[in-house]
Amino acid sequence: MTDPERWTEWNLRRASVVRIYECGERLVALGPDGEGHALTGDSAALASAVLAFLAMPRSGAEVLAHVEALAGAPIERPEVIGELLALLRRTGALEAVTTGPSRAGRTAGPRVVVGLTGAAATMHAPALIQRLQARGFEVRAAVTESALRFVRVEALEALTHAPVVTAIWPESQVHRVPHIELAQWADAVLVCPASATTIARLATGDHASAVAAIALATRAPVLVVPSMNPAMYAEPAVQRNLAQLIADGLHVAHPARALEVADPPAMRTPMLGGAPPPEVVVQLLEAIVRERASAGLAQAPRGAEGWDRLYRTHAPAELPWQHDEADADLLAAVEREGATGLSVLEVGTGLGALAVALASRGHTVVATDISAAALAQARARAPTSRAIWLSDDITATRLQGRFDAAIDRACLHLLAPAEAERHAAAMARLVAPGGALIVKTLAEPAAGVTPYAKETIAGPFAPAFTLEREAASTLPGPTAAPAARLFVLRRASE
Ligand SMILES: Cc1cc2nc3c(=O)[nH]c(=O)nc-3n(C[C@H](O)[C@H](O)[C@H](O)COP(=O)(O)O)c2cc1C
Repeated sequence: MTDPERWTEWNLRRASVVRIYECGERLVALGPDGEGHALTGDSAALASAVLAFLAMPRSGAEVLAHVEALAGAPIERPEVIGELLALLRRTGALEAVTTGPSRAGRTAGPRVVVGLTGAAATMHAPALIQRLQARGFEVRAAVTESALRFVRVEALEALTHAPVVTAIWPESQVHRVPHIELAQWADAVLVCPASATTIARLATGDHASAVAAIALATRAPVLVVPSMNPAMYAEPAVQRNLAQLIADGLHVAHPARALEVADPPAMRTPMLGGAPPPEVVVQLLEAIVRERASAGLAQAPRGAEGWDRLYRTHAPAELPWQHDEADADLLAAVEREGATGLSVLEVGTGLGALAVALASRGHTVVATDISAAALAQARARAPTSRAIWLSDDITATRLQGRFDAAIDRACLHLLAPAEAERHAAAMARLVAPGGALIVKTLAEPAAGVTPYAKETIAGPFAPAFTLEREAASTLPGPTAAPAARLFVLRRASE
């Protein structure tokens, strides 16, 4: 990448933030150290044209072809373009194109309620909200009356595309109580900046403001980020209240050195008591959400809401059953039923790797999951797949129709006996006579898992199905592939 002789092979794009200005015939690019590199006349015009062209990632060769097209003639000294690209690289205006982690699958990120108070740092709230959104959070805002001295409802609503909660009383009594609704909606609550007054409310259980009421009523983790004058922060009363919040199980961020707006501008020096910058607050919140999420993995959730929360708060690599590739033995089991053109039902598809692989082999695939958040991610990961994604609970299914094959990868073993019976009854209805039910379950017991074996699998599925084949298998995940059993059951004729 750095070999100037090979610049035509470089793949570059304009950085999202550049330190460049133009004036008259000059273009000045500042380096990361603030040092200016001035270009004049044709060089300035060339730099401007190259930067505009590199809004999209392009190779050096494409840049050369573009410049020649603009000039209407071959460039006599193409190395000039290489030198210009190298200079823009050094100043940070251009960056090498790398295929960074894809944001696909972040369609349903964790939900955070940002509670804003009458601390001066609320004036930075839009930057905080934008940073949360850039990290995949779905944001709602709630404000105290004093917060509205520093930020406008309109700005927050424009950013979040959702109503801002300003009081605990709903505008109309036919609506649900807003603070309770948001408290239940949230995967996390972030009170940032937290004023001394709001901290006192939280410490004493005073629900008078919408922000305090949401933070107190939620079962989600709460991060409180104090922000105030250093003298206020040091007050025994404030320290006592913060200690109470920590004892109550809220998360309290340590303060940063920040400027005190009460001082005249020329007199301000950074002092302890302010909220850390937005990027640090977001990191703290992400760590708290991750911590809560990994505790939530110990036992499989019950119901659609729990599964939605799990898929919103976990990255795919944190889900023990999630594998980006379809299990080879499941693909082979379907292949034995027919190489292509089957109608296949997959229940508990999760992020949809198997459904996508089967659809790409020409099967008609209906992929269901109890979690709409999982399906939204599955759809986003494979936008061109022909798989049909449907939100459905197989123990209370709304599905109709008949399938040549149905697959259950790692669902059945999570069900209680009564649920397993309803699952089996649904399968008896949905799998066509002579069709196959292909089931993979964990082989060893674990928390909330009922492992199945040759002797026990037939139980819930008889007499509609008979066990045709069973084999040792694994359930590959991001880091481990625990032992599993693969069962093929045959639907009897009616
Ligand atoms: C210009 C100005 C800046 C303020 N900044 C802060 C602050 O940074 N932290 C704080 O705790 N209080 C600050 N206050 C005081 C709060 O606004 C006040 O205590 C208010 O009652 C907070 O109520 P709330 O928690 O319901 O928003 C400030 C007040 C003014 C007038």
